[in-house]
Amino acid sequence: MMNFTITVPASTANIGPGFDSAGMALNRYLTLHVREHDEWVFETRSKHLPPAEDAEQHFIYQIAERLASEYGAALSPCKVIVKSDIPLARGMGSSASAVVAGIELANQLCSLNLDLDRKLEWATKFEGHPDNVAPALFGGFIVTAATKKTDQVEYFRTDELQVDLVLYVPDFELKTETARKVLPDTWSMADSTAASGIGNVMIAGLISGDYELAGRMMEADLFHEPYRASLIPNYEKIRLKAKEMGAYGTVISGAGPTMISFAPKGSGPAIAKGMQVELPDYTVEVMEVDKKGARAETFQEN
Ligand code: HSE
Repeated sequence: MMNFTITVPASTANIGPGFDSAGMALNRYLTLHVREHDEWVFETRSKHLPPAEDAEQHFIYQIAERLASEYGAALSPCKVIVKSDIPLARGMGSSASAVVAGIELANQLCSLNLDLDRKLEWATKFEGHPDNVAPALFGGFIVTAATKKTDQVEYFRTDELQVDLVLYVPDFELKTETARKVLPDTWSMADSTAASGIGNVMIAGLISGDYELAGRMMEADLFHEPYRASLIPNYEKIRLKAKEMGAYGTVISGAGPTMISFAPKGSGPAIAKGMQVELPDYTVEVMEVDKKGARAETFQEN
């Protein structure tokens, strides 16, 4: 019997001006327990997941099936128990984690032996941008560039950032599709130059450990935050209060509505406590960076 578990972390994407490029894996997880079975069955066991549906309609199955067919392979039937502590449509990469889980499911069942770079290329193709799927696959902090000419994803990865992360998770959803609709389709050369300069300095600040500089640049984003701010209740209040409590900078996590502060190491719990008072209807949490990324582990049936 081939029984295995697939674990994929949540992620925060963009980090302000790193729009569609930068992301970080978080210690919240989507987990699949997979057992060989005589027919396909998906069972969900989490308050964050909708009730199970026909296996063929399940998003993770559909990704696995698409990938298997790209390699001319067939998925052997399994019973899959899905658990998750990643809330849906909050900007914590739940869809990217599902894409990565589907890729790993096909990789295991069809023995595709895909390396990480190949998984990243497929995941980017399925998801549309690499900023959530890359950290979900690799763990850590990752900056990516999906180069159109080659269809390849170039990236830089590290887990050396010395910051605390505080997340403000509201109890309402915002679909990425909705949050992308408010963005402009085209940009002038002058706007692009200004926006990418801010992004470049933000990444340089993060990598070199100049977090004050990185924080200022995070909050100066021109790519997406100015357009999305009005979709996110408490946007200005969260940035302002977190800064007053010592955060380097606060940005929309992915497409929102969750926001995330980057704060001096050790200051996260106090900021979270203070911010929870300011935001009684939110779940305010300090989260860690997941450094391992997606993984598959076989297990023995008892
Ligand atoms: N970069 C994406 C966005 C992340 O902001 O729309 C959410 O999928």
